[in-house]
Amino acid sequence: MSASTPPHIPSARGQWGSRTGFILAAAGSAVGLGNIWKFPYITGDNGGGLFVLIYLVCIALVGLPIMAAEIMIGRAAGKQPVGAFEALHGGKTGWAVIGWLGVFAGFIILSYYVVVAGWSMDYTLKSISHFTDPIAERADEDAKRYRAATPLAVMRTTLIERRADHESTEPVAELRARAPKAAWNAWDKYNKAVEAALASGADADAARAVLFEDAAFAARVETAERLHAQMAQARARAKSDAEAYFGAMPDRQVRDEAETYQRRQHIAEEVGAAFGQVVADGWTATFWALLFMLATILVVAGGISGGIERVTTILMPLLIGIILVMVVYGMFQRGFSEAFSFVFSPDPSRLKASGILEALGHAFFTLSLGMGAMITYGSYQRRKEPLFKQSIAIAGIDTAVALLACLMLFPIIFSYGQEPGAGPGLVFKSMPLAFAEMGAGGMLLGILFFGLLVVAALTSAISLLEVVASYFIDQRGWSRNKAAWIIGGSIFIFALPSAFSFDPDFAMASWEPTFGKSFFDTMDYLASNWLLPMGGLLIAVYAGWFMPRRMRDAELEGLAPLVIRGWLVLIKYVAPVLVALVVLQKVGVLAID
Ligand code: TRP
Repeated sequence: MSASTPPHIPSARGQWGSRTGFILAAAGSAVGLGNIWKFPYITGDNGGGLFVLIYLVCIALVGLPIMAAEIMIGRAAGKQPVGAFEALHGGKTGWAVIGWLGVFAGFIILSYYVVVAGWSMDYTLKSISHFTDPIAERADEDAKRYRAATPLAVMRTTLIERRADHESTEPVAELRARAPKAAWNAWDKYNKAVEAALASGADADAARAVLFEDAAFAARVETAERLHAQMAQARARAKSDAEAYFGAMPDRQVRDEAETYQRRQHIAEEVGAAFGQVVADGWTATFWALLFMLATILVVAGGISGGIERVTTILMPLLIGIILVMVVYGMFQRGFSEAFSFVFSPDPSRLKASGILEALGHAFFTLSLGMGAMITYGSYQRRKEPLFKQSIAIAGIDTAVALLACLMLFPIIFSYGQEPGAGPGLVFKSMPLAFAEMGAGGMLLGILFFGLLVVAALTSAISLLEVVASYFIDQRGWSRNKAAWIIGGSIFIFALPSAFSFDPDFAMASWEPTFGKSFFDTMDYLASNWLLPMGGLLIAVYAGWFMPRRMRDAELEGLAPLVIRGWLVLIKYVAPVLVALVVLQKVGVLAID
């Protein structure tokens, strides 16, 4: 602690008003954009059920113990992350680097988080103003015209192609996953060589023979070739199934289906283009980000119990209510059973090794771990709250919301013939498409859905700003008001490059061609893939090995010995080893694909 730091006066520091207040605020931090669009998407990407199971294991084995460690550190120190380690050691310590990492990460994450939150606000307003109505109308006209002008045979062929594609995607991907990347690379190389030989008039057999002198290479090509043949078979099977299906379908129904397909294609294109416009409009993004940041600043300036706790105890029940309404709606949709098995049926053949690492990395982001958010929230807690029960409650709410978000999104997506899609597109493109198809009720669902995103984002953004602002409050003696406004304002300025990163009229757009990722994605990548896992690793190691015994025992006092022993094993060995694996894989030391 530097000499200029005012002595720690507990009564002058904010505190949670109640136990539930703390849990709801912490759960509010955890439940965010990560739960509602990212989790459903990566779940789909990684084959559903088994990935969900592994994610749950990561939450239990890594997330929970680190959550408890963060709350414990904050509680014992009564300081935000930079000051916490110094307070625990009674002076300067290298562990304060965890706090600095956290302040830095909070700055970075919030700077792009407000942009996504801003898009959600934009879409809430769009839903209120029925933005999909004119799109649905134009699509309707287009589809009617298509129906009148297109020969029946063409319609049938189009439908067959599409169904065959749809039905064969999964089996083909599954077959592809059965061979390692090396086999497919060998297969590509082999085909290119043979092609080149044929093109130059050389002897293809000779070229083949040369390549196959390498026995390992030959074996790889053989594996790939065998699977390739099976993939072709799967495609052919899907095609003949589709032919049989549409061949037996009465003409009238074929026309209906073709018209529906054409309409959805049209809506999908326009809705996709609309998202492209939102993203490409830096000024509008800035406007919404500013509004959102103002809301975040006001809550943080309001203090712990008067601002954060008050707002989260209202918003969290609201958020859970909206999700339940939408899940119930989803349950009455045709696509519900498809959605349910998509999310919960384990399919080992579809899980890549990288899915395990992805599940672990997401466990950090979704639980707000690794940057001291829970240290900060824990530091406003009164002593002797049931540490593990609270951690379980927070992680439980977060996990429940993530699973419910899947059960809310996928039935709607499947019912309207959408693919589970990718990343931001899933939420901002697929959902409006479904809403457009629903007519009047769609507008209401749209408002609910995007409003939900805004609420979830706000209770998370608060925690991010709080980590950074509390440094200036605790360590620099700033007033809460001053810290909230100055830090919030600075982060907003830092959000500008993210807001303009997809706007072709501004220089930021050239970041992507230069660095391979947009500025926006670069910030996300930096935070989620580096800062959080590194921070999490350090926190686990600290809590397991270096935290003064006296302090740790005081925090654990009164808990069942078995529970304490279990936590110690997890925090000392299991969590650090697993996180270290992730970090090594990211650095490229471990090649897992
Ligand atoms: N957990 C939030 C989400 O899922 C994001 C978030 C808020 C966060 N605070 C954090 C992530 C602190 C990491 C660290 O959207």
